[in-house]
Amino acid sequence: MRGAVCTSIGDEWVEIVDDLTVDDPGPGQVKVRVRAAGICHSDLSVMNGTIPHGAPLVPGHEGAGEVVAVGEGVTSAKVGDHAIVAWSAPCGHCKACLRGQPNLCLTIFVAISRVAHFRRGDTDVLGFVGTGTWAEELLLPQEAVIVIPDDVPFEVAALVGCGVTTGVGAAVNTAKVAVGSSVVVFGCGGVGISAIQGSRLCGAAEIVGVDTVPEKLDDARRFGATHAVHPDDLAAASAELTGGEGFDYAFECIGLAPTFRAAWDNTRRGGTTVIVGAGRGDAVLSLNGFEMFFMEKALLGSYYGGADVRTEFHRLIRLWRAGRLDLEGMVSDRFGLEGINEGLRAMQRGEVIRQIVTL
Ligand SMILES: NC(=O)c1ccc[n+]([C@@H]2O[C@H](COP(=O)([O-])OP(=O)(O)OC[C@H]3O[C@@H](n4cnc5c(N)ncnc54)[C@H](O)[C@@H]3O)[C@@H](O)[C@H]2O)c1
Ligand SMILES: [Zn+2]
Ligand SMILES: [Zn+2]
Repeated sequence: MRGAVCTSIGDEWVEIVDDLTVDDPGPGQVKVRVRAAGICHSDLSVMNGTIPHGAPLVPGHEGAGEVVAVGEGVTSAKVGDHAIVAWSAPCGHCKACLRGQPNLCLTIFVAISRVAHFRRGDTDVLGFVGTGTWAEELLLPQEAVIVIPDDVPFEVAALVGCGVTTGVGAAVNTAKVAVGSSVVVFGCGGVGISAIQGSRLCGAAEIVGVDTVPEKLDDARRFGATHAVHPDDLAAASAELTGGEGFDYAFECIGLAPTFRAAWDNTRRGGTTVIVGAGRGDAVLSLNGFEMFFMEKALLGSYYGGADVRTEFHRLIRLWRAGRLDLEGMVSDRFGLEGINEGLRAMQRGEVIRQIVTL
C-alpha cells in the first residue's frame, strides 16, 4: 500500500512509498483504512526531533477512516464502522484511568509506540506513537478506534482526532474558562483556533488571538476571537482590554520558550496559564521565587485536551452538528499523500490552520 515514511529523525520531509505493508489484526486489534488525515505541528515535531521518537516511522496521528478487519475478541468496532483514531487511548484499568484522567493513561500508549506494525520488505517501520495515519491502512488496539456515526465527513472526523480535541479541551476541560472572562491565545494554527473556539463555547467575553502571520489574525477573528494582534501589539491590546493587569487565561499553542514566558507574563495575577504547545526538552520556562507565590498564577499543562476520547469525540461531533463548532472552515487545503512535503513547508511558514490528506 501507499504511505508516507520519515526515514530518519532530523528530516523534515517524508518519502512517499508504495511498498508499505501492515500486519493483520491479532486479538483485540483493528485494521482501519484511513480516509482523511490532518497535518498537525506534532508531525513536524516528531520528524525534526522536538518530540522524541524512533525511526523509520509513518507520521500522522490525526485521522479517521473505515474499519476493514477486526481481530479475535474485538467488541467495540466491526467491519464497515467509521472511526476516529485516538493517539492516546485509555486502557480503562490503570491508576490514571481510574482516577478520571484517561488522557494520561500510558498503558496502551507505551506498549504500541514501541511495536512496529508497518514494514517495507524486511525493515520494520514504526507508526507515530503507535498510530501512523499517513498510510492507507493502519493497525490499532480496539481502544484507539472510536466508532462514530457514518454521516460525519471523514475530514471533520480527522480534525477531531487531535487538533480540535486538544484546543477545545484545553479551554473547556483543562482551564474550564469561566463565563465572561478574558482570554489570550498564542498561536492561531489548528490547535490555537480550537482553543479560541473552545473559549467562545465557554462564554469568554474577550478572546485575543496572537500570531506573527497577518493572515492568521483574520482566521482568528473568523473563529471567534474578538481581537487579533501581532505579538508587538499585544501590550496595547492588554492595556485596552484588561487595564494592563493581564488576561484571566492565557493559552500557549506554539511550543516555544519565549511564548511560554509571554503566556505567563500576559496572565493576570491569580489567573491561569495553560501550556498546550509541545516544546523541546531544552525549551525552558524560568520562573523566579518571588513571582511564583506573589502572582498566585496557576500554570497548567494540557495533554490531549484533558479529554476522555470515548466521550469527547462524540461531544465535539454533537457541537459541530449544532453549528457551535466550525470544523469544515478550519481546513486550509486538501491533497493526496504526494502533497505532504509541500504541506509541511506551508505549516512551517505559519500559512495554514489544518491541511487534510485524503487517502
Ligand atoms: N498538548 C497536546 O496534547 C498537543 C496536541 C497537539 C498539538 N500540540 C502542539 O500544539 C502546538 C500547535 O500545533 P498546531 O498544529 O496548531 O501548529 P501550527 O503550526 O498550525 O500553528 C502554530 C501557529 O503559531 C504561530 N507562531 C509561530 N511562532 C509564533 C510566535 N513567536 N508568536 C506568535 N505566533 C507564532 C504560527 O504562525 C502558527 O499560526 C504544537 O507545538 C503542537 O505540537 C500539542
Ligand atoms: Zn489506563
Ligand atoms: Zn496533533
